Amino acid sequence: EKGTYPYYMLKEIDEQPAVMRKLLLKYQDENGKLTVDQEIVDTMLESDRIYIIAAGTSYHAGLVGKQLIESMTHIPTEVHVSSEFGYHTPLLSEKPFFIFISQSGETADSRQVLVKTNALGHPSLTVTNVAGSTLSRESNFTLLLNAGPEIAVASTKAYTAQIAVLAILSEVVGMSKGLIKKGTMLHDIGIVANAMQAIVDDKEKIEELASEYLSISRNAFYIGRGMDYHVALEAALKLKEISYIQTEGFAAGELKHGTIALIEEGTPVIALVTEKGVAGHTRGNLQETQARGAHTMVISMDGLNRPGDQIVIPHVNPLLSALVSVIPTQLLSYYCSLHRGNDVDKPRNLAKSVTVE
Ligand code: M6R
Repeated sequence: EKGTYPYYMLKEIDEQPAVMRKLLLKYQDENGKLTVDQEIVDTMLESDRIYIIAAGTSYHAGLVGKQLIESMTHIPTEVHVSSEFGYHTPLLSEKPFFIFISQSGETADSRQVLVKTNALGHPSLTVTNVAGSTLSRESNFTLLLNAGPEIAVASTKAYTAQIAVLAILSEVVGMSKGLIKKGTMLHDIGIVANAMQAIVDDKEKIEELASEYLSISRNAFYIGRGMDYHVALEAALKLKEISYIQTEGFAAGELKHGTIALIEEGTPVIALVTEKGVAGHTRGNLQETQARGAHTMVISMDGLNRPGDQIVIPHVNPLLSALVSVIPTQLLSYYCSLHRGNDVDKPRNLAKSVTVE
């Protein structure tokens, strides 16, 4: 039930700190250590390449997941949109391991890939919110999100739960490979939960920014590099899906190769800045848009912030920055849609789970 909330989406955004804490409890053993079914870990250790298959927001979680898996387990990982992979399958490695990410566990595009990988005899894991869902039943292993039902069409808490589960899995595999001596994810995801809480507690400020930046615009851009680019893609999908503003997520450095031609006086461009090594570059790219009239906003992480940044998120482990930087973008989308008088939970032309190919 949505209780006193006007829309499920806002409730689900607010639930994210609690979802993080619940996940940490669920994936902890009696000694307080993060743990994942040993069979999953062993199968991953035997594989020479991981293929993540997903659609929409779950695909965006997969992009972040790839970075987590590669940095903690050193297993090469590819991420594919399921509707493409099934019919244009790339050359597979000798020992592939498939990870299907799906909130609902019912997405037809992803299921058709699973049917094929099963026929080929490749092992698979489904990361889903729904126990007993089709993808969960038909794959070898399942890791549950335990996020509680997600009702709003726009996915929020499932995205962050998917990333957190992949972070936990990556650390457990990395430790069993001897690459990580002392795990930090338990602590770091706890810090993430607090950081998320601080942002949702300050949502009035984000509502004001939504009015200031997005009330009359017809298009908008999110830019970032690395992890921030992946969040930019998700932020853009969320905004377009419920506000109907044409929004694109771009790799900040790629803008000048064509897209910058779209910048006009007042076009909103929102930059995500949470990665030290590329912060200056992204800011430079943002300035280029500002010089062409863009109405620019910066979402930066504490420590990398500069005077004038509109939103500063608390400092967290940079590997987990997506979990926190995405929260203000979810709220911007929510308020923008609300102010435009849209049905936030049920955007036009969309269904919660897409069961046709
Ligand atoms: O249930 P799934 O995670 O497989 O759904 C995939 C997409 O349809 C879904 O994430 C969609 O992109 C959301 N409406 C985005 O908010």
